[in-house]
Amino acid sequence: MNTVGWQSPSNIALIKYWGKHGQQLPANPSISFTLSTSHTQTYLSWVPAAGMGGEIKVILDGQPAPSFVPKVSQFFERIAAYVPFFKEYDYEINTHNSFPHSSGIASSASGMSALALCTLSMAAQLGHTHQDFYQTASILARLGSGSASRSVYGPLAVWGKHAKTPLSSDAFAVPYHDIDPIFETFQDYILLVDKGVKQVSSTAGHSLMNGHPFAAQRFAQAHTNLSDIQTHLRSGDLDQFGEIVESEALTLHAMMMTSRPYYLLVKPNTIAIIEAIWAFRQETKIPVYFTLDAGANVHMLFPKGDKQKVDAFVNDVLQSYCHKGEYLCDAVGNGPEQLHIDGK
Ligand code: DP6
Repeated sequence: MNTVGWQSPSNIALIKYWGKHGQQLPANPSISFTLSTSHTQTYLSWVPAAGMGGEIKVILDGQPAPSFVPKVSQFFERIAAYVPFFKEYDYEINTHNSFPHSSGIASSASGMSALALCTLSMAAQLGHTHQDFYQTASILARLGSGSASRSVYGPLAVWGKHAKTPLSSDAFAVPYHDIDPIFETFQDYILLVDKGVKQVSSTAGHSLMNGHPFAAQRFAQAHTNLSDIQTHLRSGDLDQFGEIVESEALTLHAMMMTSRPYYLLVKPNTIAIIEAIWAFRQETKIPVYFTLDAGANVHMLFPKGDKQKVDAFVNDVLQSYCHKGEYLCDAVGNGPEQLHIDGK
């Protein structure tokens, strides 16, 4: 049996991808911080096919996880052009998330990027090489889950064609380094408000942007916001950076609230946390900002230099709004790492 392995991180979008068309192509460009401690480790093993070929077994944390097989099969179908050898083998996928399975944190970005990287390493071992390994990995990851395309690079990545981002493309993400060093120190505390399964999946949410009354304006705004945030990332203007980040988070949820059918993913404690962050920032002048993904949990972003004071704020105030007092401490990271396979 041959095996390859990759560890790939989650990411948190600053400018949000919301709306897509065609084969997993974004309606607007997005940019994210790549995270470090929230990651997926995946090992892909293959043996020559016993029967028809293309059999897939998924093992999550040492336990068979057949419910993941349809999603993985769909992924292999979508990337068929890149894996012409697919049916010649049967597969076992061993995977582990660093964050609790029930935390309500989406594992699609880290999970799909780790699987994409494994698939490409397998292809390389079989002699199918690609000119730019990471760029191809980003394409494959995108076909698994749009936001996964950005997890392939750190400390930030841009996905989607954007006039002011050189080499940007709807097909893959590009690394983004034109930043003040303070952003490399950024922390992301993920305050766990609700750990249940969302009533409306991201995939369903994206499709509600088709025919959405504010879609055209929203997509245009994302281009402008991306240009503007790039200016602030370069200069290190934290206030201006934070204003765009928070506005993007609220706009994302405003799109959900104004979809037909409309829906709400924020919970009362999401709002309590946002208001507490605003009050804390006003009182202390500490540059701490929130963002949201497509769920009720709050991501709190701030520079490492303020960690001590922010930790006290979490203990004194925010923790009481978290489900069972739980939150995760993450930080900006540098992207995926290949895993060592014993005996190789
Ligand atoms: C709100 O990447 O999970 O987190 O492409 O359907 O898998 P699919 O969607 P997904 O959407 C993420 C949406 C978001 C914003 C973002 O990460 O940019």
